Amino acid sequence: MEKIDIKKLSLEEKALLLTGADIWRTYGANGKLKQLFLADGPQGLRMIDTETNKPFNATALPACHVLANTWNKDMAYEYSSAIADECILHNADVLLGPGVNIKRNPLCGRNFEYFSEDPFLSGELGKAYVKGVQDKGIGACVKHYCANNNEYDRCYQSSEVDNRTLHEIYLRPFEMCMEEKPWSIMCSYNPINGIYASENRKLLNDVLRKEFGFDGLIMSDWGAVHNPLYAVKATLDLCMPHHKDYQDILLKAVEDGKLTEKEIDERVQKVLDLIEKSESNYSKRKISYTDEQRHEKAVEVAKEGVVLLKNDGDILPFVNVSDGAKKYSKIFFYGANVKKPFTSGGGSGKVETAYEQKPLDELVKNLSGIETVFMEESRFEPCWRAVFKQAYDSDVSVIAMGDDTNVEGEGFNRYTMRLSNEQEDIILNIARHSEKTIVILYTGSAVDMSAWIDCVDAVVFAGYSGEGANEALSNLLCGKSNFSGKLAETFPITLQDAFKGGRTFDGETDLYDDGIFVGYRYYDYENKEVLFPFGHGLSYAQFEYSNIRIVKNSEYDYEVLYDITNISNVAGKEISQVYVKDVSSMVRRPKKELKGFSKDYLEPNETKTISVKLDFSSFAYYNVSLDKWYIENGAFEVLVGGSSRNLPLKAKLNVQLPQDCQYSDG
Ligand code: GLC
Repeated sequence: MEKIDIKKLSLEEKALLLTGADIWRTYGANGKLKQLFLADGPQGLRMIDTETNKPFNATALPACHVLANTWNKDMAYEYSSAIADECILHNADVLLGPGVNIKRNPLCGRNFEYFSEDPFLSGELGKAYVKGVQDKGIGACVKHYCANNNEYDRCYQSSEVDNRTLHEIYLRPFEMCMEEKPWSIMCSYNPINGIYASENRKLLNDVLRKEFGFDGLIMSDWGAVHNPLYAVKATLDLCMPHHKDYQDILLKAVEDGKLTEKEIDERVQKVLDLIEKSESNYSKRKISYTDEQRHEKAVEVAKEGVVLLKNDGDILPFVNVSDGAKKYSKIFFYGANVKKPFTSGGGSGKVETAYEQKPLDELVKNLSGIETVFMEESRFEPCWRAVFKQAYDSDVSVIAMGDDTNVEGEGFNRYTMRLSNEQEDIILNIARHSEKTIVILYTGSAVDMSAWIDCVDAVVFAGYSGEGANEALSNLLCGKSNFSGKLAETFPITLQDAFKGGRTFDGETDLYDDGIFVGYRYYDYENKEVLFPFGHGLSYAQFEYSNIRIVKNSEYDYEVLYDITNISNVAGKEISQVYVKDVSSMVRRPKKELKGFSKDYLEPNETKTISVKLDFSSFAYYNVSLDKWYIENGAFEVLVGGSSRNLPLKAKLNVQLPQDCQYSDG
């Protein structure tokens, strides 16, 4: 492929190249250049068919919050690789994902599109996602850079964040993704400390390009450019979508001496580099999954991403795993999600799938041989006596409840963490007439269950589990598969327990005065009880942790070794988590921070030794006096267990570094 020569482009053409040709494509310079098609993700291909102006049908994988609950890096790679297949099929060149924004506010309408409240988990999954896409010759676009943690007033409200918090929490997942050399980054709509992301030279150039070493293209979110001159000066490369005045404004700025052709050329070169990357990696565009296999991938991710939150009295599974005996003779299913589960929240990430899911009640009946009965809420007053009769006559009631795209989605926040009053009443009233009650939740983020959690025996967090939700759930509920998912975000008891009660914004600024204390870091620091902690998830198996030991490999490279034993008669996968605590430091630090994890399959009575590596970043904090990551010498603790609030193993270590090894240049 011949290198594209910038000299062959006129200044007029170069100015046009810095904005889209239309909504989704880059400018072709009258045929001189390949036009790249930029298509949404991140939970599947959402690409508008320019003939019908409707999205193509594609595989609706589970939303990224469910992928995150798998804690499975290999699965994240396969997930995005499957999406890359459909980009290849439809000639999309860049996939607009992953979204790695941190879940600071449980009300944020797009939490379902993001991975976690924790930067390390977000970064690890984001890296795998980027690699899965780009290994197939499709560009990834890590978004939304940065501190875009609310959807309320997302285009104009400034995120006021200090530099340490930015580096340790909100920038960290983007920095970690640099390891996989993403072809592009998307800047967010919001201002950060008073300057729009699209015009924020400090964040785009000084941090992203210089400090993090990003050498790809920075595009704007759609409509996020307010001032083309300021955007180019800040080193934004591509304004999306087409901005009708972009060329005129830039040419006038050159004429007026406010912008040099050299500045324009530097931005144009990034667009040309992206086109060249796309062309030179074209041979990697090899489809590796069939439609059926992509659907199976959706089922597999849902199986590992659905979380069993509560299972009192082991009412699940419906069938004894040990001997296959049915536990129940009749199960009552209630709720429209049984037939047609919500697959996503609203907005640009919603994938249109042609796949018709089989109803959950029918799948359970076929798998277990147990009689099932189904009813759903009707538009008119449902006949509650009939509903209660069915509940009363059954051994177990399964109630499917969730938030549709009017409640969770892009461009708005939820008003509450609770289900609607009507949904809560349905749960309470059915539970009142049931022997045993299971609630399955189809929401995109944490739910306040305080009104009903004590009235039900089991809670399954399905989230937005895509087109494979019912197949996955039926296998999990019947014990054909075992739960292994764990929460990548805290479920606080009520919104009032969250920072500022979730009301973190005032219409002008969103003041991040929680600092680095976000998610479990906040609930730990405030010693707050939570409903379900970060990293929580039940299994039909039971795992025991023992025998932690630490091996020192260098000044700050350690290996944490520990044993896990499956003490049950059921096989399963366990997500073990490694947290590091700075026992005493000269700056405020979280009580613990996730710095490693492992997901491992164990047969009944099997013991495995797990190894997790710790490095410089496992101990360092961002020191704003040095403007560097810095390790303060002294005592640290390594805590290991199955959830952030269940860490049975502890090891102590003392870090003593020569001064010139205590900090890094990031
Ligand atoms: C939207 C979203 C962004 C998406 C883009 C294109 O406003 O913020 O995530 O990729 O525009 O649809």
